[in-house]
Amino acid sequence: MAAERTVTLRPADRPLVRPALWWEVWALYRLHRVCFPQQSYGLGRFLGYLCNPRAVLLVSGTPGDLRGYCIVDTSVTLAPPEAVAEIISLGVRPPDRRQGLGRALLQAALAWAGRQGLAETWLQVAVSNHGAEQLYQEAGFERRDRLAAYYLSGEDAWLMRRCNTAAEREFGDVV
Ligand SMILES: CC(C)(COP(=O)(O)OP(=O)(O)OC[C@H]1O[C@@H](n2cnc3c(N)ncnc32)[C@H](O)[C@@H]1OP(=O)(O)O)[C@@H](O)C(=O)NCCC(=O)NCCS
Repeated sequence: MAAERTVTLRPADRPLVRPALWWEVWALYRLHRVCFPQQSYGLGRFLGYLCNPRAVLLVSGTPGDLRGYCIVDTSVTLAPPEAVAEIISLGVRPPDRRQGLGRALLQAALAWAGRQGLAETWLQVAVSNHGAEQLYQEAGFERRDRLAAYYLSGEDAWLMRRCNTAAEREFGDVV
């Protein structure tokens, strides 16, 4: 008798989120610059995450037409000695905002982090970025500390953290 297999289906209304392909690095970099025109990472940083087995770069959209991305890294030491996942960057291109894409990317990132067996996910968000903070709070993040002059602009950031749920740790999600 064939072994029973359980398949979790992505709800039809949830955007497809998938790991980026290495040759999408330039498109990713360009999308990132659109999302963060004032303070962008260099191309090398994206290459670094794509090559880092302890990080994942998730995207939504087709290879020639990326709509959003999220980088998660588990090689950071934000809370030593505990290993935590960190949301490094999340961005959705302006015409595609407020359609649930940021939420879908974040959920996929949290599921991936949970599946790595990590208990918590952390991130930093500019104190003036109320929209993003709202998205993070809705996903269960809470403010932990205020980081003075965290950004090059001199702006403070909220350090936020969230416990990955037992279900995420056990099952992860469809990515
Ligand atoms: C923040 C960002 C990723 C959100 O992406 P998005 O696809 O628009 O987010 P969603 O449509 O999934 O929004 C989910 C929820 O987050 C909150 N939210 C998102 N953007 C918001 C905004 N501009 N103002 C208020 N609330 C907002 C809302 O609660 C929203 O739910 P609702 O639309 O049902 O009200 C996007 O605005 C972006 O790329 N901004 C520039 C880069 C950035 O600031 N990244 C985060 C840095 S830490």
